[in-house]
Amino acid sequence: MTATSNLCREIKVRRRELMAQMEPNSIALIASAPPRIRNKDAEYRYRQDSDFYYLTGFVEDNALLALLPGRKQGEEILFCQEKDSTKELWSGVLMGPAAARCELGLDDAFPISDIDEILPGLIEGRDRIYYAMGKDDNFDDKVMEWVKVIRSKVKLGSHPPGEFLVLDYLLHELRLFKSKTEISLMEQAARISAEAHRRVMALCRPGIKEYEMEAELWHEFVRNGSQAPAYNSIVAAGNNACILHYISNKAEVKKGDLVLIDAGCEFEHYASDITRTFPASGKFSPEQKAIYEIVLAAQEAAIAAVQPGAPCDDPHEASVKIITKGLVNLGLLKGRPAELIKKEAHKEFYMHRIGHWLGLDVHDVGDYKIDDAWRLLEAGMVTTIEPGIYIAPDNARVAKKWRGIGVRIEDDVLVTRTGNRILSTGIPKTVAEIEHFMSSTAH
Ligand code: GLY
Ligand code: MN
Ligand code: MN
Repeated sequence: MTATSNLCREIKVRRRELMAQMEPNSIALIASAPPRIRNKDAEYRYRQDSDFYYLTGFVEDNALLALLPGRKQGEEILFCQEKDSTKELWSGVLMGPAAARCELGLDDAFPISDIDEILPGLIEGRDRIYYAMGKDDNFDDKVMEWVKVIRSKVKLGSHPPGEFLVLDYLLHELRLFKSKTEISLMEQAARISAEAHRRVMALCRPGIKEYEMEAELWHEFVRNGSQAPAYNSIVAAGNNACILHYISNKAEVKKGDLVLIDAGCEFEHYASDITRTFPASGKFSPEQKAIYEIVLAAQEAAIAAVQPGAPCDDPHEASVKIITKGLVNLGLLKGRPAELIKKEAHKEFYMHRIGHWLGLDVHDVGDYKIDDAWRLLEAGMVTTIEPGIYIAPDNARVAKKWRGIGVRIEDDVLVTRTGNRILSTGIPKTVAEIEHFMSSTAH
C-alpha cells in the first residue's frame, strides 16, 4: 500500500469522525480557500484552506466539500473544477470530478459549475447547516443564496434548514490531536527548519545584512521541498530583536549584536516554528549571556511542564516564575518574586505567552480554555514553547548595559502519553553549544 493511499484512508476517517459528531439530519459545507490577489492580476501562490485540506487532501481552488451524514445515495460529495485543456495549458493539470471521486475516496463528485443546480437539492430537507460562518463574506452570501432557493419553494413543499451552526468547534477539536502521519510531517518540517537555522548560525558574521540571512533560510526551505515559510521570517539583529513581530529584515548586523531568528517552513501544509538567538560574533557578552541563561532555564522548565493531564497553562506559569526570579537576581526587577508574579511585573520584559498550538496553521486551531478553565494537555497535541526577555533600547529604568538585549528560544513540543517529545531538535541551544558551533564554523 502506498503512503498516499494511507493518507487518503486517514482523511476519510477524519470525515467519518466529523460526521459522527454532527447533529442529526444536518449538512456541513467546507469551501476551498479563495485565490488571493497580490497586486492587479498577480496572485499570491495558492495555499489551500487548512480545514478543507484536513478533510480532503485536495489542493485545487474553486472547490467545495459537502458532508451529509446518513444520506443513502452518498454522504461525502465534492464539487471541483472540470478538466479543461485550455485552462490546464496555462495553469496546470486539474484533477476533475471523476478522478477526484476515486483518488480522494469520496462518494460522489460534480463539476463546480453545476453547484447552484445541485447543492440546494442536497441542502433541502436537512434541518441544520454547519459552515465556517463569518470567515469569508462571499461564501456566507453563497450559503444564503442556496438557502433562499429552497425558501422560494416552500409553497411547493420544500423544507429549508432552520439552524445554522459554526463548524469550527467540532472540526478544530479533531485538528488539535495529531495522528502519527501528521506528527511525522511536522517532524519533517522541523528538520528542514533546523537545517536552515544551523546554516544561518554558521554563516552569520558582523557586516552581513538581515535579508542575506533570510535568503539562506529560504534556500534551505525550498531546496528541501517546502513551498513556503509557515509565517514571515523574523531576522532581527541588535535592538530589532526587541520588536516582537519585526519582519523588515533590512538592517546590517553589527559586532556585539545578538541575532534573533524566528523562522520555520511549511512542509506538506504543516508548520514548524523555531526561534534561536545567538551572538553575531560567536561569543556572548556577560550581559547577553546572563539574560540568555534565564530564558533557557525558563524554556527548559516550561518544556518539562508539558505533561499529559497538566493544565495547558502550566508551561507559561513555570516560565514566569523562572524569568521573574532571574530578573530579580540581575536587579532588573526589584521586590519579592512572589509579589512580582502576582503583579505580573515580568510583562515589562516578557509580554507574550509561552506558546500556541501548532499544526496546519502556525497558530493552530483548538480552544485553550474549556468553561473558562485552562484545558488539560493530552497526548497528540503539539505546542510551541517560546519564552523570551526583551529589554527595550529606551528603557531608562535599567542600566545602559542591559538595553536592547532581546532573546527568545522556541521549540515545537509534542505531548506524548508519558511526557513530551521535542520535534525541533538538532540546533545548538545552550551557550556552550552555540559558542562551540560558531567557533567551529570559522567565527
Ligand atoms: N513566529 C510566530 C510565533 O512564534 O508565534
Ligand atoms: Mn516563532
Ligand atoms: Mn510561535
